[in-house]
Parts: sequence; C-alpha cells; structure tokens
Amino acid sequence: DAVELGNYQHYMQKEIFEQPVALANTLEMLGSAATRSFSANLFGAAAPEALASTRSVLILACGTSYHSGLVARYWIEQLAGIPCSVEIASEYRYRVSVVDPDQLVVAISQSGETADTLAALKHAKTRGMTRTLAICNVAESAIVRECALRFLTRAGMEIGVASTKAFTTQLAALFLLAATLAKQQGRLAANDESECLTALRHLPLALKHVLELEPAIAAWAQDFAGKQHALFLGRGLHYPIALEGALKLKEISYIHAEGYPAGELKHGPLALVDESMPVISVAPNDNLLEKLKSNLQEVRARGGELYVFADADSAVEASAGVHILRLPEHYGLLSPVLHVVPLQLLSYHVALVKGTDVDKPRNLAKSVTVE
Ligand code: G6P
Repeated sequence: DAVELGNYQHYMQKEIFEQPVALANTLEMLGSAATRSFSANLFGAAAPEALASTRSVLILACGTSYHSGLVARYWIEQLAGIPCSVEIASEYRYRVSVVDPDQLVVAISQSGETADTLAALKHAKTRGMTRTLAICNVAESAIVRECALRFLTRAGMEIGVASTKAFTTQLAALFLLAATLAKQQGRLAANDESECLTALRHLPLALKHVLELEPAIAAWAQDFAGKQHALFLGRGLHYPIALEGALKLKEISYIHAEGYPAGELKHGPLALVDESMPVISVAPNDNLLEKLKSNLQEVRARGGELYVFADADSAVEASAGVHILRLPEHYGLLSPVLHVVPLQLLSYHVALVKGTDVDKPRNLAKSVTVE
C-alpha cells in the first residue's frame, strides 16, 4: 500500500488519530486566524448566487456519510432557518418525491463513487433540480464532476472500510455550509460568524484531547467483546452520533447494535434492556441533558449496564452499573464532531479484543460502486 501504517496496528486506528490533522487541512481554506469572516466562494465560484436564493436543502448519501447529513439537518434548520431533509440515496432514487427546482441538492460521499448516491443525484437533476453541491473527499470523482458546486474535504486517503476521518471532515464542511446559508439569510451576526470560525479552528486541538481517552476506552472494550447486542442512545444533535456509533460497532465487531433517540426508548427498545445488553449513551452538557438523564434512569431500573460519554461539566455521576468517561468542556453546536470519536475508538477496541479483520470487515467494501 502507498500509505504507510507507521506505528499503528491498523489503518482504522491511524485514521482515527489523523483526525486533528485532517480537520486542520480541511479548514485551511478559511485562511489565517486573523480572518474573521468567510465567503460562499468556499463552495465554488457559482456558490454566492446559488446559495443566496436557496430556500431549502435536500441531502443525499449512504452509510456514514448519511449520518453526517443527519447532523447537518440540525445545523441548517437551527442556524439558517431553512428546511432540510436527508435521504438515504438508495431510497430517494426510486421514490416518487416532490420536485423543487430551487432546492439545493447536497450529495455527501467520501469516495465520490457510491453508485446509489450518484444515481440519486442524477435522478434529482433529471427532474430539474440542478442546484447541486458535492461534499466529497476525492476531487476527480464522479459525484464531484456531476455537481455544479463542490467542497472538497481534505481527510487524505481513507483505507479502513469503516469511515472515520472522512466523517469528521464532512461535519466540518457541513457546519460551514449551515453557517454560510445562515449568513446569506441575514441570520448570522458578525460576532457570531467570528465565533463560528474560532470554534472551527479550535476543533483539531479539542479533538486531540478527546483522543487521550483511548486507554480508558480500551479498558471498557473488554466488557463488550462477549456481548451479542448493544444499544446506543443520544438526543438532538447527538442522535445521529448514536446511529454512527452503532454502525461502527456493527461494521467491525459484528455485534448487533442499534442507535436510538433516547426519548424513543419507551416505545420499544426498553423491552430488550437487561444485564446482557450494554447501553452506550452520548451525554453532552446541552439543553437535553436532564431529559437524557431520566431516560438513563429508565435503563438502570431495568438492570441495564450504562456506558456514558459525558462532558467535563455534565452533572452525571458514576455509580454501580453506571460507567462514565468525560470529554473536555461542552463544545456547543460542534460537539458531535468530538463525541463521535470515543465511539470510533470503542468499536475499534472491541474489534481488537474479538480479533476481527478491522480494516476489511467481512462482506463490506470501502466503496460500493455497483447497486
Ligand atoms: C460503504 C463504506 C462506508 C461508507 C459508505 C458510503 O458502505 O463501507 O464506510 O460510509 O459506503 O460511502 P461514500 O464513499 O459515499 O461516503
């Protein structure tokens, strides 16, 4: 392989640890720290005009890229105040949906070659939706060529089948898209714009601190290796992160895992909870923390063992059956970029304990170029 493993055991581990650099490289186009504003040109020369008249957004993607789209929906609706829907590409391409020629169609893809995402994009274009944007990690890819606008993430080559650094760089790109749309709508004050930039620029360092949790997460992984099932819970912005955590665990450790919005527990998954199913929870110190804590009590009351990723300032305490690891201070709207990292590390270490083929899990391909 052209990419060396260096001191790492697997590409996935290497790629998890490359995330601070991947983010810094992706954000380089924002200019130096002295630059306090950004322009829609980040998305291509035609972007200022195309984004100014955008009234709604449709995101198309598969797999992990779909999960970054789900996070983006929260950002776009909250910051820009315009509706955003997110669709699994293989569903959208065959569904009778409503055509809106003024909608911005965003295709998210690490490889730029995923057959369903490409077909969904072409389907949208055939139906007259030509305002298209690719968020992609490969410049010379089919999806980039197919779109009028583009934002290239600079994660570098990703080899591990389970996507990690492509995901966090997609999130950075999508946050910038939400902020740019907000600016175009006149909803982003100059000081908020400056704050967004500061938060983005500080991400690589914040992520480095999260990576220091690896030894503690590796210790937790021992508890998971013998399990058949796991449940991942999150709320709000972190619900898609719970979905991504579950996907990672499925992909590389072959443990059946489901991601759920914690408020839905009582509508089904609570029936599954007992001491043999670990429940992993993403618990940032946001406005939903108190709600989440009462959901977690419901799990404890049924004997479920809890593994909680909290923030330093989240008021959740360890007790019998409640294990807690803390990330640095709450990171506001960009918190999902940090909270996904411990879940990547957890699935990686569970797979190590189980001895599965981390970089090439059975039955899966890095890029799915046929339907
Ligand atoms: C495959 C890969 C996943 C990836 C998905 C979408 O399933 O194993 O890691 O998230 O395809 O790929 P894309 O290149 O379009 O992001």
